[in-house]
Amino acid sequence: MEKKRLQGKRIGFVPTMGALHEGHLSLVKTAKKENDFTAVSIFVNPLQFGPREDFKKYPRPLSQDAALLKSVKADCLFIPDAAGLYPDGFQTHIAVGTEGSFGLTKGLCARFRPGHFEGVATVVAKLLNLAKAHRAYFGAKDFQQAAVIGRMALDLDLDVKIRVCPIVREKDGLAMSSRNRYLTPDNRRRAGMISKTLFELKYAVEQGKSFNLALSAARKKLSRHSDKMDYLEVVDSGTLEPVHRPQGQMTAAAACFIGGTRLIDNVSIRAGGKLRK
Ligand code: PAJ
Repeated sequence: MEKKRLQGKRIGFVPTMGALHEGHLSLVKTAKKENDFTAVSIFVNPLQFGPREDFKKYPRPLSQDAALLKSVKADCLFIPDAAGLYPDGFQTHIAVGTEGSFGLTKGLCARFRPGHFEGVATVVAKLLNLAKAHRAYFGAKDFQQAAVIGRMALDLDLDVKIRVCPIVREKDGLAMSSRNRYLTPDNRRRAGMISKTLFELKYAVEQGKSFNLALSAARKKLSRHSDKMDYLEVVDSGTLEPVHRPQGQMTAAAACFIGGTRLIDNVSIRAGGKLRK
């Protein structure tokens, strides 16, 4: 990468955990459009998984991933190993958004996955340093993660532009995710309800319907149709603080279990002229 930089090439970087799908590939395609050289990393980062989470069973279809990356003409695939990234004696962790009355990692997934965003920020900081890219690409699918990484880059003066790209969805609206492959056919059908619920909420709020009624209807629906709802919140898109009445730029975000699989999704909401509490 150093060599590419010295040759004056613009470098794009897409960090992933593999089990690639069209969501990941959309990031690679955007990176390719905007740079001369695009690198992708695959690393299932142990630091961001909780003790009862799916680190061990996380899918690792490496040769399939390599073929997909070839099909979109990624220039370089980087597969670090855990011992290389976290050698004995490793003891530096990055905590973003834990300060103040409301930080980026106070709510949403952070409440249910303690230590997760610290694990993400730490590995992404390391990967960005190793990749020496000009631009790094992340998906809006992981809305809180994108906010945390953007903040970290700003706060630590990282010399890289963080680009956040739109969510790629299946035909029924389900946000693509490596974890969708855990779903049985029946659970896969049920999972389509997550995005439907969020979009219904979005349209209700944008049409000026009662915010509180729309939010409680959405929560009821998600909790009824999922096996466990972690949260469904409408938050300020910048601060991630829950909003209690419609305001400029909001995001409705949800996490729930379908079968044993935890899925997340979000949609942005733009409050128009008609605002009602
Ligand atoms: P992973 O879940 O593999 O996702 C890699 C990138 O792809 C993330 O930026 C994620 O937001 C994006 N992505 C996933 N599904 C998407 C979809 N349906 N549409 C658009 N983009 C999508 O996120 C991680 O890995 C890790 O936390 C990582 C950043 C690599 C750090 O370990």
